[in-house]
Formats: sequence, structure tokens, C-alpha cells
Amino acid sequence: MTEVIDSDIIIVDYFKNMMIKEIAKIVENACKQKTNYFGYGAWTYHILYVVKYAKLMAEKFGADEEIVEVAALLHDYASVKDYKLYKDHHLHGAELAEQILKEFDYPQDKIEQVKHCILCHRGSKPAQKLTKEALCVADADSLAHFDSISSLFCLAFSRHKMNVDEANNWLMGKLERSWNKLSPQAKEIVKDKYEASKLLLGNRER
Ligand SMILES: [Fe+2]
Ligand SMILES: [Fe+2]
Repeated sequence: MTEVIDSDIIIVDYFKNMMIKEIAKIVENACKQKTNYFGYGAWTYHILYVVKYAKLMAEKFGADEEIVEVAALLHDYASVKDYKLYKDHHLHGAELAEQILKEFDYPQDKIEQVKHCILCHRGSKPAQKLTKEALCVADADSLAHFDSISSLFCLAFSRHKMNVDEANNWLMGKLERSWNKLSPQAKEIVKDKYEASKLLLGNRER
């Protein structure tokens, strides 16, 4: 009896891991496309960090690691796929996630949990987070910015065509909004980096 249960668990884990790898491929491929406004850095310097921090926060909050990993992978998919969707990418992203996950026959209740995480991930579009998983993904999205300062500068100069002062102010504003959105547990993880960024980027006088 025990052996049967063990092999069932192994099979379920196998398909779950395969699905996550496939979703990662879909998102990474979208990031590689020339049409991706944010460039491949969206994958290497943002989404991969969001996945890492979402799993870390899931451990801290006792949240479902599978849901947070899937949602973290897909949370910005809409804006990577089509920059025109950026303004409401949380809404479009939730719809696209449902389409993708249905292809994998993912259970509807889990699809709804992933969609809720994507709908709530943005600091600039506050929404009530009803689950621990949504808290993890929103925290992770902000935490990731503190590991990607060089790539955010690159985005400011090369894509947004900002000058040095504009880029500096834009980035400091982004980091401040990210900080304000964090849970107390996530602030603990990143407080040294936040203080350092204020020291380096804030109140610059010439
Ligand atoms: Fe986003
Ligand atoms: Fe994001």
C-alpha cells in the first residue's frame, strides 16, 4: 500500500515538474523575441529573481510552492509578449495564464489561485491579496528589483531614453514603491539593500 502511494506521489511530482519546466520555456522564449520591449534581461534579471524570492517567501509564509512558482513565472508574461498590454498586464497576464494552464490540464481551482497572484502582483495597482500565495508573489516582484539595479538602469537609458538624473529619480522612485509594498518579513530580507540604495541614489546634490 505504502509503495503505491509513494509511486503516485512520484508520478504527480514528475508531471508537475515537467509542466513548470515547459512554462519556464514558454516565458523564456517570449523574453528572447525581438518584439519583447524589455529585452532578454526581463528573464535573467527579473523573472528568475521573482521565482527565487517567491519560493523563499512561500517557505516563510507556509504557502503553496507550486502555485507561487507558476504565478511568478507567468506574472509579467503579458507585457513581455506584447508591450501594448503593459498598462493592464496584470489583467491580461491572468487571462493568458489561464489559457496556458488549461493546455496542461491544470486543475481549475489551482488556475484560479495562480490568476489571483497575477492580478495582485503590482504595487501600482493595489488589490486585496486574499491568499498567502498572492502575498509571496507580490513581495517577490518587489524584492527582485533590489537585485537588478544595473539592469534597471540599462532599461532606463536604452529603452526609456532617460538622461542620468531622470534615470536616477525613476529608479529611486521604483525602489521606494517596491519597499513600501513589502510585507514586514520581506523588508527584513532586503533592508540593507534598501538603505544602500537610498545612500547611493537618494537626495543627490551637486
Ligand atoms: Fe508586473
Ligand atoms: Fe514583475
